[in-house]
Amino acid sequence: MRGSWFNLNRRTVQRFKQLAITPAGSLRINLLLLCCVGFTLVLLASLASSSIGWSYDRASDDRFSDSRKGYAILINTWKRNDLLKQSIAHYSKCQGLDSIHIVWSEPDPPSDSLKKYMNHVITSNSIGGRTIELKFDINKEDSLNNRFKPIPDLRSDAVFSIDDDVIFRCSSVEFAFHVWRSAPDAMVGYVPRIHSLDQKSGSRDHYMYGGWWSVWWTGTYSMVLSKAAFFHKKYLSMYTNEMPASIREYVTRNRNCEDIAMSFLVANATDAPPIWIKGKISEIGSTGISSLGGHSEKRTRCVNRFVAEYGKMPLVSTTMKAVDSRYTWFW
Ligand SMILES: *[C@@H]1O[C@H](CO)[C@@H](O)[C@H](O)[C@H]1NC(C)=O
Repeated sequence: MRGSWFNLNRRTVQRFKQLAITPAGSLRINLLLLCCVGFTLVLLASLASSSIGWSYDRASDDRFSDSRKGYAILINTWKRNDLLKQSIAHYSKCQGLDSIHIVWSEPDPPSDSLKKYMNHVITSNSIGGRTIELKFDINKEDSLNNRFKPIPDLRSDAVFSIDDDVIFRCSSVEFAFHVWRSAPDAMVGYVPRIHSLDQKSGSRDHYMYGGWWSVWWTGTYSMVLSKAAFFHKKYLSMYTNEMPASIREYVTRNRNCEDIAMSFLVANATDAPPIWIKGKISEIGSTGISSLGGHSEKRTRCVNRFVAEYGKMPLVSTTMKAVDSRYTWFW
């Protein structure tokens, strides 16, 4: 066995030598080289096509010149002007952005220097016949419900609700926007959460709120948080005018769970799960409330309270995740 293997090997080596020397051999080497070159070309072509696809996508963004087809950013901020400036400077570069609404609940109105900075950023990014509208929605009362107040005369149907400390690349935001347009009744967002039945508790209908780890472990989710989500503007007026007032009062009192309340509202209206978008989240600034202790117990209490208000559990679980297929070439 060994010998024959060795002989074979020797023969191969000899043949290789022959190949390299004889004209016939160089032909085969050339063929091999040609294959390599061909493979490289295919690889380059596929890379190029993805970049062509990208520029094609850019070119076809004319469709956003119809302002009803764009989206509004609804940004919630609280005494973090530096973060707000960063966010606005970033998002105002995004195609398809139609207007920016800053939910302002601080006791002092926005300073002149902040307004000046914002206007400067907006005008320098309003190129190519695009005008971005900027509005501060000033609230007297400091309540988390403020972030879901209906916006009068909103040009676009789509609202991109975002916290002041999360940044997504424009390409990712546009992808989420396209997903939303294919399902405009759904909430489409980047931060999934899950509810589950509490097995330990004695009562049958006690639910638990599951954070990032639960979603990661089960691959299942039933909410996307409004810290980074697209939804239809109609849900703003439903939240403010149609949702039971007791839920809004609970949110104000507990300074928490407006996002869960919104998830309940949309789930109850659609009988369908939200849509989770794959996207890389960059948090700027310090950590939010989710890192404080006792957060998950508070959230669990909210879920059970809202279930009682609705008289049922409206949330629907799913395992579907929307990804941009241009960036997933292993599948
Ligand atoms: C849930 O949806 C149903 C059907 O659309 C509606 O009648 C009901 O008022 C909603 N419940 C709440 C608490 O909003």
